[in-house]
Amino acid sequence: MERTLILVKPDGVRRALVGEVIRRFEARGLRLAALKMVLAGKDLVEKHYEEHREKPFYGSLVEYLTSGPVVAMVIEGPNAVQASRTMMGATNALEAAPGTIRGDFALSIEENIVHGSATPEDAQREVALWFSPDEIVS
Ligand code: RTP
Ligand code: MG
Repeated sequence: MERTLILVKPDGVRRALVGEVIRRFEARGLRLAALKMVLAGKDLVEKHYEEHREKPFYGSLVEYLTSGPVVAMVIEGPNAVQASRTMMGATNALEAAPGTIRGDFALSIEENIVHGSATPEDAQREVALWFSPDEIVS
């Protein structure tokens, strides 16, 4: 059993895709363990995307993630990290396969609807960053 952090990013919330994203994960067999809407501050988003601090798109990425509410969730199931990443599709939505969330709903490399932790280690760090232990229901 594995847990991972999923965010419906501000473009996904604005486009009313929250239900669609949750529906897909639930239909796949992944269980919601935590869920909330957050108007994330710069500090939180900077920590969340710390690995990209030196990238040319970092400033724009932080601006994008703080441009409106995000829906944060913890989902769990066997191989939840890999399963959710496969369901999200490639980072560049233009290259994401049809049938994936990004491949079905986005066209941009930046505004790509969802975030999902990339490794189990990232997932542990990110879940702890976005949720306190008492917000996660086993
Ligand atoms: P995420 O962390 O959001 O799940 O996305 P990812 O692993 O598929 O991709 P990552 O390399 O971690 O990039 C994080 C997010 O930064 C934006 N991005 N913009 N303009 C660009 O070249 C560029 N590259 C990445 C995207 O929003 C990407 O999801
Ligand atoms: Mg990433």
